[in-house]
Amino acid sequence: MIHLNFHPFPVLTTERLVLREMSLDDIDTYFIIRADEEMNKYIANPRPKTREEAQAILERMASYARDNKSIAWTIADKATDKMVGSLCLWSMDGNDDSWEFGYAILTEHQNKGLMTEALQTAIKYGFEVMNLPMISAFTHKDNASSIHLLEKNNFTRNHAAEATHAQIEELKEEMAHSVIYTLRRDK
Ligand SMILES: CC(C)(COP(=O)(O)OP(=O)(O)OC[C@H]1O[C@@H](n2cnc3c(N)ncnc32)[C@H](O)[C@@H]1OP(=O)(O)O)[C@@H](O)C(=O)NCCC(=O)NCCS
Repeated sequence: MIHLNFHPFPVLTTERLVLREMSLDDIDTYFIIRADEEMNKYIANPRPKTREEAQAILERMASYARDNKSIAWTIADKATDKMVGSLCLWSMDGNDDSWEFGYAILTEHQNKGLMTEALQTAIKYGFEVMNLPMISAFTHKDNASSIHLLEKNNFTRNHAAEATHAQIEELKEEMAHSVIYTLRRDK
């Protein structure tokens, strides 16, 4: 059985980072994360046009943890508590095997191993605390940095899931340029 209880909010720490609840103080950075052209070049989500639209998304993401549905962390610099990225673990239908990561790090902080650090602690949380049997990530097939990140952390390409998702009408278009990577919990 998977365990969905995000009360109290699970704050995770790593060598350089703290993964904490999203706050309205993060809004300027979150707006960049969701709206910046370069950061979102491989991401299909609609981009907020204003800070207010970004705030509405942030508030919605934060409400999911309050409702024990899914979880979104602000990735902050441990020394300053300033947001440098975001990481969420969510499921489209709540099924045990359908949990996915979504992640982003501000351009100026990329390629320093920060997402590897954040992902490793979130993987541990997903397997050991939430008791998930597996975690996946959908990514654009040309998103080399994201694919490298996943492979470096032992995720492997899940061709069976790709074939299944390609049959779903609403996902057909996205699956034409997406790949799915999955990590299974050690038994
Ligand atoms: C994907 C992303 C989160 C990675 O974050 P990060 O903090 O830079 O990740 P890390 O530094 O831990 O690891 C990235 C790895 O990719 C490598 N990499 C970077 N660009 C690459 C490229 N073009 N081709 C291959 N590998 C690449 C880095 O060298 C690093 O590997 P290394 O540690 O073996 O040297 C970041 O690039 C990002 O936020 N991109 C925009 C948002 C996005 O596309 N998110 C994915 C949504 S599915």
